[in-house]
Amino acid sequence: MTAWWKKAVVYQVYPKSFQDSNGDGIGDIKGIISRLGYLEKLGIDAIWLSPVYKSPGVDNGYDISDYEAIDPQYGIMEDMDNLIAKAKRHHIRIVMDLVVNHTSDKNKWFVEARKNKDNPYRDFYIWRDPVDGHAPNDMKSGFSGSAWQYDEKTGQYYFHLFAPGQPDLNWKNPKLRQTIYDMMNFWLDKGIGGFRMDVIELIGKDPDKKIRENGPMLHPYIQEMNKNTFGNRDVMTVGETWNATPKIAEEYSDPARHELSMVFQFEDQGLDQQPGKEKWDLRPLNLGELKKVLVKWQTKLDFNHAWNSLFWENHDIPRVISRWGNDKEYRVQSAKMFAIVLHLMHGTPYIYNGEEIGMTNYPVKSIDEVEDIESINMYKERLAQGYSKDELIHAINVKGRDNARTPMQWSDDAEAGFTTGMPWLHVNPNYVDINVKNALADHNSIFYTYQKLIKLRHENDIVVNGDFELVSTDDNVLAYYRVLGNERWLVVANLSSKQERFTSTDEIQRILISNYDLPETLLGMTLKPYEAFAVAVKK
Ligand code: GLC
Ligand code: CA
Repeated sequence: MTAWWKKAVVYQVYPKSFQDSNGDGIGDIKGIISRLGYLEKLGIDAIWLSPVYKSPGVDNGYDISDYEAIDPQYGIMEDMDNLIAKAKRHHIRIVMDLVVNHTSDKNKWFVEARKNKDNPYRDFYIWRDPVDGHAPNDMKSGFSGSAWQYDEKTGQYYFHLFAPGQPDLNWKNPKLRQTIYDMMNFWLDKGIGGFRMDVIELIGKDPDKKIRENGPMLHPYIQEMNKNTFGNRDVMTVGETWNATPKIAEEYSDPARHELSMVFQFEDQGLDQQPGKEKWDLRPLNLGELKKVLVKWQTKLDFNHAWNSLFWENHDIPRVISRWGNDKEYRVQSAKMFAIVLHLMHGTPYIYNGEEIGMTNYPVKSIDEVEDIESINMYKERLAQGYSKDELIHAINVKGRDNARTPMQWSDDAEAGFTTGMPWLHVNPNYVDINVKNALADHNSIFYTYQKLIKLRHENDIVVNGDFELVSTDDNVLAYYRVLGNERWLVVANLSSKQERFTSTDEIQRILISNYDLPETLLGMTLKPYEAFAVAVKK
């Protein structure tokens, strides 16, 4: 039997920006509950909920101070229980974000740990003596600066792969691991649909050997976690793994290994940055390279022993139409193209809130408009290194994480109907046109393309289980077959803003979906900018 999560489409909710229910300008759980009907109409099966746990909010909830409490800005535990129960009535499962590489420095474990070297929680974290009066080594934090923070009180450094307010947990400590498993079971017992595991590839780290991701103990830990928590429950698990190759993805997701359902891989993220440099060091995307990466993950991963997820966007990466498509004259066409080409691939698709109505990046003019710690730290660091303000603001506009974090655009009411108060982050001024209300009223909108793609997946096993076969075309066109039994579907997408040629002798049996009107024959076609379609053809 095919697992439910192989047939599912998952929708990511970024709670701070989804829907405010009490006018404080911050999205909340009651707000999410009020939008379940909308999500059911879209047709999704599960919500991946970015963190709503108690947190000082240094990294918007990815710094947890209490794993078994809800942050007051989002509501109370009763709201969360309601969300789980009410979502179920809308046929939606709630997948929680599991952030266990690190906690907040305000977590009681860390508050205890830093008190003295003999504290029972000391060993929940990673402490090292100074070396020659300096940090133990030159490892860097993902949010700029050293990964080591000196703590006066006990005269040792603690390790943090993200902000100093996010101390890394010491997974070598079996007591810490058991504490995490107990916490996971607390949530599983509430009937959640699974976990999205934040930077899970880091938990096997070895700071003394400067090993960050894919450390030697990574997979043993995940296997142990599986056995002690979700292993015999009908839930999905997806690991955030920035450095996965297809082989590594198989290690995580081969059912025989009892680890995770699937991973998020990010190989495409490096395509518009200079090799060996940081994400801010921009270079233009080459569509041929994008195509190569997409095809690689369809063909090099053995779907009989592995599973993968499919996504363009999340809260850490910019809006795809602004980044690789066209958010001006071809906004609608390119949004539908990205949807069609991805959602008919092999794997579980994810939609990031707002993607389904074609929300775009937000152009900031100065650093005062920026909320994200990653962008702010980078800006300060690089300014000191001599970069110009203009080039840094440009990089933030292209790659900054706030781009995808602006409030959800529900209507053309004030603040896009997100809040009756002052939103915590600026609403994109294009909300007067780009909003859910308009999308629902227009039967040709991006929303209905997503709705139809979800329906196609739910109703056709070929989308879930069909083989993927690449069709040879020029670089700017991606065409593939999905094949199952005596069915064959052809998916064609022009990734570019120019006209492209496509030809095939296949006979169209049925048009499944398209973003322009289709001719009767595929012979000698001229594809319009961002044209994409799927047709059933004779096998
Ligand atoms: C993941 C999250 C990101 C967060 C980081 C540290 O990459 O998606 O938002 O900043 O981990 O938790
Ligand atoms: Ca609120």
